[in-house]
Amino acid sequence: MHSSLAIGSLHISPPLILAPMAGISDLPFRLLARAHGAPLCFTEMISAEGLKRHGKNTIALLRSSPKDSPLGIQLFGDNPDSLAEAARMIEADCDIIDINMGCPVKKVVSGGAGSSLLRNPLKAAEIIRSVRKATSRPLTIKIRTGWNSTEPSFLEIGHIAEQEGCNAITLHPRTRAQMFSEHADWERIRELKNTITIPVIGSGDVFSSQDVVDMLSQTGCDGVMIARGAMGNPWIFREAIERLAGLIPSGPSREERQAMALSHLEQLCGLYGESTAIPEMRKHLSWYVKGLPGAARFRSLANTYGEKQQLRQAITDFFTLVEHERD
Ligand SMILES: Cc1cc2nc3c(=O)[nH]c(=O)nc-3n(C[C@H](O)[C@H](O)[C@H](O)COP(=O)(O)O)c2cc1C
Repeated sequence: MHSSLAIGSLHISPPLILAPMAGISDLPFRLLARAHGAPLCFTEMISAEGLKRHGKNTIALLRSSPKDSPLGIQLFGDNPDSLAEAARMIEADCDIIDINMGCPVKKVVSGGAGSSLLRNPLKAAEIIRSVRKATSRPLTIKIRTGWNSTEPSFLEIGHIAEQEGCNAITLHPRTRAQMFSEHADWERIRELKNTITIPVIGSGDVFSSQDVVDMLSQTGCDGVMIARGAMGNPWIFREAIERLAGLIPSGPSREERQAMALSHLEQLCGLYGESTAIPEMRKHLSWYVKGLPGAARFRSLANTYGEKQQLRQAITDFFTLVEHERD
């Protein structure tokens, strides 16, 4: 049995979340995760300043649909007033507002946003306070453990989040300096959980349904966020739900993989048009075929196709061949 995760008035059961991922977690990706049981999904991080300016590319990141619910929108920025204004602009379009305080990318931290807030607790507090005042939506922040190993600030930021009225906090237990190297240190999730009273969501190195169960049991966290483990693998949600219910998860069949890749392609083309969708689909395809025989050859072939029909045929041929190779 699994518990549910309460984020303010919102109850998420089972306590599984699709992570915000820049360039990945768009509407089609979220809908596919939801079709496999993801009970809550986040948009990628969206610039508060871009929203304020009504930037076309920024607004496009808000694209959603009635089936894309409940939805968390993640904002990034360093200006408390801009973040508050952005929160007011989006609150009617989402169920949760999250503030990014973990992004390690240079462009983001050089502007004082993302993980640079981990070494500026006063600014972090000011931002949360300002957004908290602006909206009554459930509010969360997403952090790393600190700027680097000599400046671990996650417990301090956790206390601030609690005091300033956040409804939950997500921790990816790597420092900014680590980027994605080494292992995520799940022990830090346990430490945070033992330190604060608001729900703690764990993120980091969850690549299988067993990892979901292990993170919940080893850290005592209230929810698990899945990022890279869902790339080309929306089934991870279904499998985690089965495992949490004490069942042995059933992996996707060949037909399911093929249908999923084709459906992903259709959804991307429907949303963006073929010329944008096809390059976008190539990266997802490389994840759908990862580990299967002939994947490398398929990837280079797929890179040469510029039309949807060609790519559809290549996907069908690839999965048919995989099936025959199994016989
Ligand atoms: C391509 C990519 C883009 C990401 N973009 C975001 C983002 O926009 N906002 C955010 O808070 N985290 C972002 N992350 C971090 C993930 O949400 C997650 O915390 C991290 O990948 C660790 O989880 P994992 O090991 O399950 O991938 C991104 C990660 C990846 C791989």
